[in-house]
Amino acid sequence: MTTRLTLRRPDDWHLHLRDGAMLRAVLPETSHHFARAIIMPNLVPPVVTMADAMAYRDRILAAAPGVGLFEPLMTLYLTEDTDPADVAAAHASGLVKAVKLYPAGATTNSASGVQDFDKVRPVLEKMAEIGMPLCVHGEVTTPEVDIFDREAVFIDTVLDPIRRATPGLKVVMEHITTAEAVDYLRAGDAGLGATVTTHHLMINRNHMLVGGIKPHYYCLPVVKRERHRAALVELVTSGFERVFLGTDSAPHLKGDKQSACGCAGVFSAPVTLSCLAEVFDEAGKLEQLEAFTSLNGPAFYGIAPNEEQITLIKGDPISYPPELATENGPVVVFDPGCPLHWRFDDAY
Ligand code: NCD
Ligand code: ZN
Repeated sequence: MTTRLTLRRPDDWHLHLRDGAMLRAVLPETSHHFARAIIMPNLVPPVVTMADAMAYRDRILAAAPGVGLFEPLMTLYLTEDTDPADVAAAHASGLVKAVKLYPAGATTNSASGVQDFDKVRPVLEKMAEIGMPLCVHGEVTTPEVDIFDREAVFIDTVLDPIRRATPGLKVVMEHITTAEAVDYLRAGDAGLGATVTTHHLMINRNHMLVGGIKPHYYCLPVVKRERHRAALVELVTSGFERVFLGTDSAPHLKGDKQSACGCAGVFSAPVTLSCLAEVFDEAGKLEQLEAFTSLNGPAFYGIAPNEEQITLIKGDPISYPPELATENGPVVVFDPGCPLHWRFDDAY
């Protein structure tokens, strides 16, 4: 039985760090385990220009003394007014790695997102030319479309047309949640990648809704049927190269989650590696974990994997603090509802 697992230090290709007190509280939870992370730009107001991204990057680097060599990989929030020249300058700086597309109203803080995709055509063409990836929140926001169908409908009606109209555009399907997305990804070319979250590998909609509603399992895209979760596990453990970890760790204050209109977002950063080792171990595919956490993402983004290594150790079920304190109140940590046997070796 494998009881020690050494991996290249992982990266998180989809992370929400927020700002201010929340940023200071959550950043160490990621920087402790991860070398780099793609930082989502959905602040209020959003991170839209290169200047916004540089200022946010400075705030991240200043937020937690002692976070060591953690490198935030910045993104720009695509709006209908985004300037292709500013995007190109941001990419050329080497500090901004991608542009994020939120359909207007799709998720937390996405009001400034795109409504008319023709308006962003010049930006997408510039990105295809310079090789800059578009990270896509893949859900339609049409009121008539059922929330559980929004990802599959988006693929057919928005994503596929965008990709056909913009040959050469690198696209990351963010936090995929359905077998339809898995099929579309597998059928794509080298310019199409996807991230999968920790929680979508562990919970389905029954976990969220049976026996009482669990607000801490509510996120967007919403968790789906078991067959979709199983398709995601099969994908990430299969050795497929264009899929990589994007935790979508998205902290909200406990009071904002446990509310009559609870926020979408699961805060998984503190337990993500323990959870993933459990999933891959359960599938008998521990040997595929490093590709998912540490190799496939850098390869897709065209940067070198981390040289440094980390070790995970298997033993008795771990215990971890159920909440993280912030200056404004606690944030509840993702509890997958099963024992976790793998712990991060701090001594390594
Ligand atoms: C994210 C957030 O809280 O910022 N929430 C979520 O449920 N995933 C936004 C997002 O990535 O959709
Ligand atoms: Zn997200």
